[in-house]
Amino acid sequence: MKKIPNPRVCIIGAGLAGLTSARYLQDEGISFTVLEGTRYVGGTWRYDPRVGTDENGLPLHTSMYKHLRTNLPKPTMELRGFPVPDDMPSFPSWKIYYKYIQEYVKHFDLARHIKFLHNVILVSRVQNMWKVKYQNVLTGEEFEDEFDFVIVGTGHYSKPNYPTIPNEELFTGTIIHSHDYREPEVYKDRRVLIVGAGPSGMDIAIDVAYHSKALVHSHHSRIKFREVFPKHYIRKPDIEEFNATGVLFKDGTYEDIDDVIYCTGFQYDYPFLDKSCGLDLSPRSVTPLYKYMVNIRQPTMVVMGLTVRACLVVALDAQSRYATALVKGNFTLPPQEEMMEEWNRRAELIRSKGRPLSDIHFLAEKEDDYYADLTEESGIERVPPVMFKIRTVDTQAKLESLYTYRNYAYTVLDNETFVRTLEDKNINRIR
Ligand SMILES: Cc1cc2nc3c(=O)[nH]c(=O)nc-3n(C[C@H](O)[C@H](O)[C@H](O)COP(=O)(O)OP(=O)(O)OC[C@H]3O[C@@H](n4cnc5c(N)ncnc54)[C@H](O)[C@@H]3O)c2cc1C
Ligand SMILES: *[C@@H]1O[C@H](CO)[C@@H](O)[C@H](O)[C@H]1NC(C)=O
Ligand SMILES: *[C@@H]1O[C@H](CO)[C@@H](O)[C@H](O)[C@H]1NC(C)=O
Ligand SMILES: *[C@@H]1O[C@H](CO)[C@@H](O)[C@H](O)[C@H]1NC(C)=O
Repeated sequence: MKKIPNPRVCIIGAGLAGLTSARYLQDEGISFTVLEGTRYVGGTWRYDPRVGTDENGLPLHTSMYKHLRTNLPKPTMELRGFPVPDDMPSFPSWKIYYKYIQEYVKHFDLARHIKFLHNVILVSRVQNMWKVKYQNVLTGEEFEDEFDFVIVGTGHYSKPNYPTIPNEELFTGTIIHSHDYREPEVYKDRRVLIVGAGPSGMDIAIDVAYHSKALVHSHHSRIKFREVFPKHYIRKPDIEEFNATGVLFKDGTYEDIDDVIYCTGFQYDYPFLDKSCGLDLSPRSVTPLYKYMVNIRQPTMVVMGLTVRACLVVALDAQSRYATALVKGNFTLPPQEEMMEEWNRRAELIRSKGRPLSDIHFLAEKEDDYYADLTEESGIERVPPVMFKIRTVDTQAKLESLYTYRNYAYTVLDNETFVRTLEDKNINRIR
């Protein structure tokens, strides 16, 4: 790929992926536009008490709930060059973290680059250019612009993945997905079934358990949580079927249920990416990507934040710098065949283990190597190894107890080391 003089860049979405990309492109004096469908910055970090559609009739993007606190400690939530405030709790509420994002936008004066209320409806590759079609959501007016690069930052925790369970239509109670979960108070004195034990399933189970009469938790996670749940917590295997009043489980047992919350994850959803973009899009994977982000078939497009099992914010921030260095021409990508070979090797390894292709997005143990790779190739400042080290210790603390892991505070001493202490409870209570 030859260096493009005076490149024009389109950033889609003004969540953390779009905002960090905007900041770095601005630093380099590169011209860009951010297209954002809502009137807000911060994407999923903005809590909205509504469910369904927003004031403009668009599906609500955010999956935030009222009592959410981050599930990673604050050093791993920090955006580069913009220290989190000293008085931020170790695991801040969404409210405190969202304020930090708003301060970031102010500090780097990013709002002037964002076209709010402009929803991208089609991205296609035409004659070596990106054509981006977008719509003013208030007037319906459509626009089309051409760009040299596209940075896709539309997130992937928005489109619910619903399970299909027999006889669901017979059930007379309520059913929602965690995307629409807002607050536990409505479950007072109810018998609630939570399905799934991923991060949302565990977190929402605890949130609801304080209020509900019974908390039935159906999942097949093999993770051994050494959890002391309240007495009214009932662990169940997968669901066999519904009937009008409750749920029959695979082990033949039955529970009366009033309300169901599916914490069954999200689907990747890029309805605006045309076939000509060259990506293989499925609900569980987006492929083929180089370095977990560069569209191999059209390497002037990057898809941000697809890594899972990582310090997501830190990874996003590094990806934004890598994308900026790429646009700037600070480095050149390997030839397409080479990127494709590397991807095939990774995909083959996953297949040989009998694992689903969705694993291709997992960083997990490879997280720190990933940061080293990004730096080696692009010359960006390295994400220090201490981030992965903190995440490793935090993961262990979660296994020990989901009730107490947020009581720890992590302080970075240098690039390699940190200390963990028990957080001052007075700080901890600020929600
Ligand atoms: C409930 C919840 C809790 C989380 N907790 C943590 C945590 O504790 N720690 C952590 O590190 N991560 C956490 N995450 C992950 C979180 O998603 C990332 O931290 C990060 O915010 C992702 O940013 P993003 O910019 O990729 O996506 P988003 O924040 O989803 O932003 C995407 C933006 O794109 C816009 N958009 C979408 N489609 C279009 C379109 N067609 N045209 C124009 N604009 C569009 C949306 O309106 C939105 O503003 C959590 C996620 C969820 C859902
Ligand atoms: C649902 O199934 C359970 C267990 O078989 C049963 O006790 C209950 O009465 C059934 N509910 C209805 C409405 O049939
Ligand atoms: C690109 O390279 C220049 C010169 O070495 C450097 O100053 C700049 O920070 C680099 N940009 C990125 C995004 O890495
Ligand atoms: C920490 O890492 C940064 C970024 O790679 C580097 O600039 C800095 O010199 C490192 N500090 C120490 C003490 O090694």
